[in-house]
Amino acid sequence: LKNKNFKICVIKGDGIGVEVVNETLRMLKAYEKILKSVNFEFIEAKAGLTEFFNNKDAIPNETIETAKKCDAILFGAITSPKPTEIGEELNKLYKSPILTLRKELDLYSNVRPTIDYNSNIDFVIVRENTEGLYIKEEYYDEENEFAIAKRKISKKGSERIVRFAFDYAISNNRKKVSCIHKSNVLRVTDGLFLKTFEKIAKDEKYRNIIHNDYLVDATAMYIIKSPEMFDVMVTTNLFGDILSDEASALGGGLGLAPSANIGDNYALFEPVHGSAPDIAGQGIANPMATMLCCAMMLDYLKIDSKPIKNAVKRAFLEGNTTADLGGSLNTKEVTDKIIEYLTLE
Ligand code: NAI
Ligand code: MG
Repeated sequence: LKNKNFKICVIKGDGIGVEVVNETLRMLKAYEKILKSVNFEFIEAKAGLTEFFNNKDAIPNETIETAKKCDAILFGAITSPKPTEIGEELNKLYKSPILTLRKELDLYSNVRPTIDYNSNIDFVIVRENTEGLYIKEEYYDEENEFAIAKRKISKKGSERIVRFAFDYAISNNRKKVSCIHKSNVLRVTDGLFLKTFEKIAKDEKYRNIIHNDYLVDATAMYIIKSPEMFDVMVTTNLFGDILSDEASALGGGLGLAPSANIGDNYALFEPVHGSAPDIAGQGIANPMATMLCCAMMLDYLKIDSKPIKNAVKRAFLEGNTTADLGGSLNTKEVTDKIIEYLTLE
C-alpha cells in the first residue's frame, strides 16, 4: 500500500478550543502510527479573539488561503466578543470566523450526529447551511409598522443538500432519510424543498434507502418521544438549527457533540461547544467531542475511523471521562486512555 499524505488545516481558536484540539492531534498522531500507510501534516492557521485584538481581523485572508490548500479543516472554538464590550469601531470590524469560512468555502451541509452511548439513539441531522432565513434579507416598513424576513429556498440549493443526505446515508451505512419541512403552511418554499426531495429519492442510486417526510413541529415532539424512529434527517437552515440543538440535549451533551460543515470542495469539522471561558486554562475540558469530529474527518477522507469511535465509546462506558460526564479525569488523562484503547480490528 502506498503512503498517503493528508494536509490538515488546524484552527485551534480560543479558550478550550486550543486544549481539546491539541489533545485530539496527539491522539491522531498515535493513530497514524497504528495505521502505518497514512501521514497527517498539520498546518496551523489563526482565527479568533486573540487574533482580533492583536490585528483587528478575527480571520485573516491567509487562514482562508491555507484552509483552501488543505484536504480538511479541524476547528476548535472561538470566543466571540460581546457587542456591548468592544465599542463601535471594533464592532464594525468584527467578522465571525466560522460564518466567514462557511461562506468562503461554500460549506453548504451542516452534519450533526446525535450520540448517546447509554441508549440506542443514533441519528444524524443534515442541515442546509447557506439559504433559508439566513440570507438575512429583512426590512422594516416604517409607515405600516411591520417587519418582513425573506426565506430563500432554491431548486439547486435543495437538490445539493438532499443529494448530500442520501449519499451520506449510503457511505455511512444508514438506512433511511427523512425530509423535515413545513410544507402545509409554507407551500411554495417548503413545497419546493419537499418536491425536490421526493424527486431525488426516486433516483436509482438511492433505491436501497428508505425515505419519508415529517412536519417540523411533529418532529420536535418525536425527537423527544421516539428518537429511534430517525436515521438521517434533511432539513432547511433554521429548522435544522433548532432541531439539532434539541437533539444535542437528548444525546450525551456538549462534551460528546461533533459537527461537520461540508461542501463540494472543502470540509470543516468542529465540536458543537464553544470556547468555555469558565473552564479554559484548567486542563479539564472534555476532548471527546473534538475526537469524534476527528473521526468524522477521517470518514470524509475515507480513512477507517472505527478505532477512534470505539476508543471514545469505551472510555465513556468505563467512566474514564472528564467532570462534565461525571468522571474525575483531566483532558490529558482522558486522551491517554483513548490512545491506549486505539486498536485496529
Ligand atoms: P460553551 O459551549 O463554550 O460553554 C457552555 C457550557 O458548557 C460551559 O459551562 C462550559 O464550561 C461547558 N462546556 C463546553 N464545552 C465543554 C467541554 N468540551 N468540556 C467540558 N465542559 C464544556 O458556550 P458559551 O459559554 O455560551 O460560549 C462561550 C464562548 O464560545 C462565547 O464567546 C461564544 O460566542 C463561543 N462559541 C463559539 C462556538 C464556535 O466556535 N463554534 C460555538 C458556541 C459558542
Ligand atoms: Mg445553534
